[in-house]
Amino acid sequence: MQRRVLITAALPYANNHPHLGHVAGVYLPADTYHRYLKLTGVESIFICGSDDHGVPIMISAREENISPPDVVKRYRDIQEKVFSSLRIEFDHYSGTSTCEGHDELAQEFFLKLREQGDIDEKVTDQFRCSSCEMFLPDRYVEGTCPLCRAEGARGDQCDSCGGAFEQDMLIDPFCANCGSAPELTSTRHWFFRLDRYEQRLGEWLESREGWRDNVRNFALGTVNGGLPARCITRDLDWGVPVPLEEAKDKVLYVWFDAPVGYISFTREMFRARGQEEEWRSWWTGDDVDIVHFLGKDNIIFHAVIWPAMLLGHDEFRLPADIPANEYLNFKGEKFSKSRGVGVTAEEILELFEADRVRYYLTAIAPEGKDSSFTWEDFIQRNNDELSDVIGNLAHRVFTFTSKNFDSKIPGGVEESPFATEVFQVLREARQGWTSALNRQRFREALDKVVTLARHGNRLFDAAAPWKSRKTDPVACGRDLAALLEVVHGVSVLLLPFVPQSAARLVGAFEQAAAPASEVVSVLGERPLLQPGQPVTGPGIVYPRLELPDDGEESDSGS
Ligand code: MF3
Ligand code: ZN
Repeated sequence: MQRRVLITAALPYANNHPHLGHVAGVYLPADTYHRYLKLTGVESIFICGSDDHGVPIMISAREENISPPDVVKRYRDIQEKVFSSLRIEFDHYSGTSTCEGHDELAQEFFLKLREQGDIDEKVTDQFRCSSCEMFLPDRYVEGTCPLCRAEGARGDQCDSCGGAFEQDMLIDPFCANCGSAPELTSTRHWFFRLDRYEQRLGEWLESREGWRDNVRNFALGTVNGGLPARCITRDLDWGVPVPLEEAKDKVLYVWFDAPVGYISFTREMFRARGQEEEWRSWWTGDDVDIVHFLGKDNIIFHAVIWPAMLLGHDEFRLPADIPANEYLNFKGEKFSKSRGVGVTAEEILELFEADRVRYYLTAIAPEGKDSSFTWEDFIQRNNDELSDVIGNLAHRVFTFTSKNFDSKIPGGVEESPFATEVFQVLREARQGWTSALNRQRFREALDKVVTLARHGNRLFDAAAPWKSRKTDPVACGRDLAALLEVVHGVSVLLLPFVPQSAARLVGAFEQAAAPASEVVSVLGERPLLQPGQPVTGPGIVYPRLELPDDGEESDSGS
């Protein structure tokens, strides 16, 4: 059975300008994967939207002196603009506070779990700030992490160690609004009995194959360490209301309602298309792989808590894969909107084309370990690889074709040792590219394309068509046809990574080549270009870049 793939990217909080760390770790790989699947003819949908609830949005509202819905509106527009300028193209971008039916579905999860005894009700002590006159859930309280002792941990999780805990475990807590020490005050809350899922989660995680080690090991370690019940309600007035009479002024914890958005957004998309029930097959069909893209601080939620919710709800499928990335750093520090570290997507897009940003962020993707953005490296990778290897190969081959072969594909590609070598190189590149992309190794897959182009340049030098043109015109045409196959192969394999510029390259072969979807399955098996057909080079697609002024400055400061 042909598989279908449902891709999600972690819902960004509706209070930030996406920075390059988010883009490199989550949205770009997800989009690249989606483009790859579409290119190979796999049916897939790509779902995202903003995470509108919770304390992060309330804090922004307070700071900007506007209401939470206004914060959401402002930032959702910004996010959609940024994503579209990076050519990150979702099939549906919604938001948890506006999606039709989202609240009800999140409430359904809560009620279903409660019905089967997975939710306990307890009066607990929570931090309350007497000067701010409010309870301080989650980010409203900060302190030292009880697990790793890092400072700056928040009431619900620590970004340093990725741990999640109950707020009263925080060491030296203080109110994030006013800095004063909060007091523990009793209030009633509802707790998700994760311990009842330990065994099933453990077995499920043990049986995962092909998952990234960081994800599987972290999740297994968490489960094996024992899962305490987690408080899933909050004393706030912004969020999904707890569906119980006795909890009228409480809302569900943002991490309880947000992942439900993956489902509610899928449903919303299909309903808007007039396909009322289609969403269900995407969430229940065993021909569907659900793949969640996210950063490492989200692993615990997607690989442990969300699967427990899904197991409890018992209608929807568990994720097939969770390709979480490590962090992209900027001058040795994690990108952070709140601490003003790094570059926002808007800033870099004012200076450079989307494809240049996409290229670099994939080339240094933080897969497996943290990586680092620097302006100098950004310029260098673009120049050394896109301009000098790929652009150069395309340019010399197109120019030679137009000067000597009237911009047409020469005939006779098959029969020569040179062509045999070319086809072998193409085949290996395609296989390596496919295998890397199937494992969501984007960095490796992109490297296969650069290596292919590097090979192409060497083959061009070895064939020396500028010499054979005079001595043996037939051999010259034959070799050039093979080299054009390489340029074409490189162009098609680049499509998921740098869609606009690669499309310009592929466009040069418009009338001459098999469709890209065919190319990706047979590249290297046989010639794919039609002799005699026109091929018109698009000019310089990757001009060399220069260091932006402020880039230089910010780098020398490190
Ligand atoms: N808003 C969260 C963050 O930025 C991610 C939410 S992902 C979801 O860390 F699964 F909950 F949707
Ligand atoms: Zn306070």
